[in-house]
Amino acid sequence: NRPTIFFNEPLADFSQDEQLEAMQEALQLVEDSLGEEYPLLINGKLIETRAKLTSRNPSHKKQVVGTSGSATKDHAVQAVEAAKRAFKSWSRMDPSLRAEYLEVIASEMRGRRYELAAWEVYECGKPWADADADVAEAIDFCMYYADQMRQLTQPLNADVDGEENSYHYRARGVAVVIAPWNFPLAILCGMTAAAMVTGNTVVMKPAEQSPVIAAKFMQIIRDAGVPDGVVNFLPGVGEDVGPVLVNHPDVDIIAFTGSRAVGLQINESAARTTPEQHSVRRVISEMGGKNAIIVDDDADLDEAVVGVIHSAFGYAGQKCSACSRVIVLEPIYDRFIDRLKEATESLVVAAVENPAAWMGPVIDEESLNRINDYIAIGNEEAKPLVAKEVGKLAGEGYFVGPHIFTDVDPGSRLAQHEIFGPVLAVMKVKTFEEALDIANNTEYALTGGVFSRSPQRLAKARAEMQVGNLYLNRGITGAVVQRHPFGGYKMSGIGSKAGGRDYLTQFMIPVSVCENT
Ligand code: SER
Repeated sequence: NRPTIFFNEPLADFSQDEQLEAMQEALQLVEDSLGEEYPLLINGKLIETRAKLTSRNPSHKKQVVGTSGSATKDHAVQAVEAAKRAFKSWSRMDPSLRAEYLEVIASEMRGRRYELAAWEVYECGKPWADADADVAEAIDFCMYYADQMRQLTQPLNADVDGEENSYHYRARGVAVVIAPWNFPLAILCGMTAAAMVTGNTVVMKPAEQSPVIAAKFMQIIRDAGVPDGVVNFLPGVGEDVGPVLVNHPDVDIIAFTGSRAVGLQINESAARTTPEQHSVRRVISEMGGKNAIIVDDDADLDEAVVGVIHSAFGYAGQKCSACSRVIVLEPIYDRFIDRLKEATESLVVAAVENPAAWMGPVIDEESLNRINDYIAIGNEEAKPLVAKEVGKLAGEGYFVGPHIFTDVDPGSRLAQHEIFGPVLAVMKVKTFEEALDIANNTEYALTGGVFSRSPQRLAKARAEMQVGNLYLNRGITGAVVQRHPFGGYKMSGIGSKAGGRDYLTQFMIPVSVCENT
């Protein structure tokens, strides 16, 4: 096999004047382009719809970022039909040509990376560095899957005398991609690129909160010259179009990233078969987490405090990888929480067009209300340690400051439910074994971490911590393509690993051919 030629896209450094200015210019350009309309795209044709989705800036809720079409059930059926028609020639194309399309898409995103990041600042309330990392990850997904596809087309022969045996992969058919708003380009692009490069055709359904950045991505796919019908753009209301897409007899793959509730519903619907159906549907799903970091009694506190804060409050806790529980050994507990409190209180919460914003708003009103409900539960059932006020920002956008609760009961709602916001539950334990038990005592198994200097305890965590991504002596977010294949198990997902070597094979059918010679 030839060696991999993949390299991760470097991240921007906004302390450099040139990059800072490039981002400021991009933000200005985006501000000047707010309020435009983005129609559906089915079989290469732009389609206007009567209903629209309005995308708002979470930092300034009165500001409209853009409006997109909102698909009806009929549009959903048309999109599946278009994808089905495009399948025959796309699936027969030489895989290395499909890989080249991904490289062209990556190159276009590289050329427009500040602009794309700026759209994320406006549409999703992402601080600059987070928005930039999302664009870099999208580029990585394209480049990595292109490289992987080339690897997977290498012949795998197991010949014996008188018999030639080969093993190869075929595309499955039509893939429905249902993406979240929290990594509005990277995750949408990752699932779509994987489906495309493996020879499937795609109906791309972005999150209702982030149709504009998705429309930008769709335009990049078109500009790359991807044939009509291979990727169809279907923004719409999940409750309306989701069931049509998931139950359509011509859909073969559903690639989903989002909440546990929706993921399980999709899994259940996809499993039901009808006589019109020609294949057993494949579901590739990434769901939630209730991720814990254990702080051992000998941990380096400088690193542990920073690691916990970044993981808990980065992008306002709205990453499925975010830390929402911290489990601290008794001997170090008081020192740790004093420093955690002080550091959290110093975080700058602001509208994210401001480069000084460490933390911005949450995505929308529904999220804000849910998070505030959990804060009220915390105030009743646990002990508030930090409740940072956001002052006037509250009227301007969907802001809630970082909150930390101590004395949290490990079985309580605060310690068990995925809150998806800047709320951290702290628990004190006597032994490392108890810490591991509490860490594992959730329905989820996505990310987790340990700060410890003890090789024995780190080894125990490696063996026993039930997570798909374990991070030792560092934060638990920010998985990097190829280096940290990302995804969980238990109720966090089906164990697929985005950005890992097993990911693409899930989008394909392996076929073995034996010829008597
Ligand atoms: N891949 C992201 C992270 O690791 C979460 O989706 O933070």
